[in-house]
Amino acid sequence: MTAQLIDGNALSKQLRGEVTRRASALKARGITPGLAVILVGDNPASQIYVRNKVKACEDSGLHSVLEKYDAALSEDDLLGRIAALNRDPAIHGILVQLPLPGHIDAQKVIESISPDKDVDGFHVASAGALLVGRPGFWPCTPYGCMKMLESIGYDLKGRHAVVIGRSNIVGKPMALMLLQKNATVTVCHSATPDLSAITRQADVVVAAVGKRNVLTADMVKPGAVVIDVGMNRNDQGKLCGDVDFDGVRQVAGWITPVPGGVGPMTITMLLVNTLEAAERTAG
Ligand code: GUN
Repeated sequence: MTAQLIDGNALSKQLRGEVTRRASALKARGITPGLAVILVGDNPASQIYVRNKVKACEDSGLHSVLEKYDAALSEDDLLGRIAALNRDPAIHGILVQLPLPGHIDAQKVIESISPDKDVDGFHVASAGALLVGRPGFWPCTPYGCMKMLESIGYDLKGRHAVVIGRSNIVGKPMALMLLQKNATVTVCHSATPDLSAITRQADVVVAAVGKRNVLTADMVKPGAVVIDVGMNRNDQGKLCGDVDFDGVRQVAGWITPVPGGVGPMTITMLLVNTLEAAERTAG
């Protein structure tokens, strides 16, 4: 079997088209959805990520503000900027790019963002809302994975979904989203013995570890759906995921590529969350 590809670029294009249309409708009512992106320091990867986020806003007709600060910015000054953005009616979403310099308490900064503007979905109020199934912003990467499953018409009810990785940003919220769709969910992590015995039972595997070849062909049930959240470099410096793509695609039923899979979906769901935040203020 050769797996069918779930194309994150194509799905993103479609969803961003919807964002553009909904943003125009809001603008006609005098509201331009606005995202503030804060970058502290000069982490090269973060610089690329924030540039891509701001460009995606522009391409979809959203207003965006990029605030760049020196790595020496104090925690108090950062909290002051967030307080001002919380009050700013032109800003519907606030994103503080992580990681932050070591002298700043990232969790404290995230908790200072108004939950109504927490388009990253990292605030404890957003995490709590997801846990109990109340409305709130979902973290963009697992939200994007759910959209990819939806795009192939996959019914999760009664299926065994295995998540590899337990980060607050991907693994844990991913497990909750799958559970909300009535999957039976197993979360595996670095202390899980015999990972392959578990993944071989999975109808859906989400690999979110940040390490190459975490999932190989012998670990996958024929026909399973494989979602690869990883962003790594191989020995030739080429972008690759957590999944051994060439091997696993011979066994799986569906698979997301890297690049062109989950990556573009993450930014797309940030646009969706920002638009939604603006729509909520519009009533
Ligand atoms: N750093 C790496 N990924 C992310 C993300 O999705 N949001 C933020 N704010 N920082 C990140």
